[in-house]
Amino acid sequence: MSTIHWIDAQPRSARWHSESGLPLPRRVVVADDRMKAAVAYRLACEGTALLWRGDFQNARQLLRAMDRRVGRAAPGVAGTPAETFHLYRRFRAHRARVLGKLLVLLEEGYVLGLRRAPDVRPACSEAYGAYEASGPVAVALTELLGVISAQQWREKGVYVPALEARVHPHYGVFAPTRGEYVDLVARAPLPRGGDVRTAFDLGTGTGVLAAVLARRGVGQVVATDVSARARECARDNVRRLGVELTVRVTGPELYPEGRAGLVVCNPPWLPARPASDLDLGVYDAGGGMLQGFLDGLAGRLEPGGEGWLVLSDLAERLGLRSREELMAAVMGAGLRVVDRLDTRPRHGRVRDTDDPLHAVRAAEVTSLWRLAVA
Ligand SMILES: C[S@@+](CC[C@H](N)C(=O)[O-])C[C@H]1O[C@@H](n2cnc3c(N)ncnc32)[C@H](O)[C@@H]1O
Repeated sequence: MSTIHWIDAQPRSARWHSESGLPLPRRVVVADDRMKAAVAYRLACEGTALLWRGDFQNARQLLRAMDRRVGRAAPGVAGTPAETFHLYRRFRAHRARVLGKLLVLLEEGYVLGLRRAPDVRPACSEAYGAYEASGPVAVALTELLGVISAQQWREKGVYVPALEARVHPHYGVFAPTRGEYVDLVARAPLPRGGDVRTAFDLGTGTGVLAAVLARRGVGQVVATDVSARARECARDNVRRLGVELTVRVTGPELYPEGRAGLVVCNPPWLPARPASDLDLGVYDAGGGMLQGFLDGLAGRLEPGGEGWLVLSDLAERLGLRSREELMAAVMGAGLRVVDRLDTRPRHGRVRDTDDPLHAVRAAEVTSLWRLAVA
């Protein structure tokens, strides 16, 4: 167990918890409303964590002021898109480390005992699980704010036009905020003339694609995910959507037992190492999940069946994977391309000209590749 230590009139300690893998702070000092942003920023850059004892809203303001200082070090557009991407990721990691030095203490039962603090107990229980009676726990304020915002998303849900319903993402689960890829799965022609008794949805996340397949009349959908949070989230959503008799959620293995007439997979689109489990929906280390899907497909399809690979060309535009490599992986797995349906992103970041990856994102195309045994 990791523990932080500090002096607050007398020596104190607390359990350290970080979902995003922030390192255990070795030097911790107590900070309150008198702390100036310039001092806080300098201490954080030097690696000293600040355990906040002042007003909660002032802590949020201090965080914003520190963020503005970090922002001045943001990378401009470098050379190649790949270089820009790597610089951008490094900057984001640096920003997370610096801002992650402002800490708050959750007392027994996830009580945040600061002035003007919200009741964070429900949000923390949803994100971290039931409180284990093992004393106070220290977390980065940035992470706590993420936990609070995740609870709001979970309550409100994300409207999915293809389902004419809301899907409720849990903390740390990939949210279908980019509806265009869901629409591809909703409109691609089903294989075997529509006679699909069993489908697999690999890496189901919120369960959104499994639910779309169920609504399209697929008899039985088996949905898998490596993440326990995603599996719980998918079960919650299929219940809410009334398709729990059609969709079975399992894992952590990528492929379930048996064969299917349709196997859908929307792997993380970028072949890069996830910094933590929170990144599992975005980064696929070495393209391992994509390769696993392709390699297993021919042996799992029923005659006349298809695999649907949902993939954006962002990795290609960033120089992280070439189209030739993708096609070689498809052919190497004994597969052929039946057809490809394309769509353009509609999400807000496409219009964000301050984003260093703006040009790449604006040109991005998301495709549904219909694959069959060669
Ligand atoms: C891009 S998200 C897609 C989620 C969902 N299918 C959707 O379309 O919204 C990728 C999902 O794959 C899961 N995943 C990542 N690596 C995996 C693996 N090796 N095996 C199974 N699932 C994996 C992640 O946890 C995440 O939920």
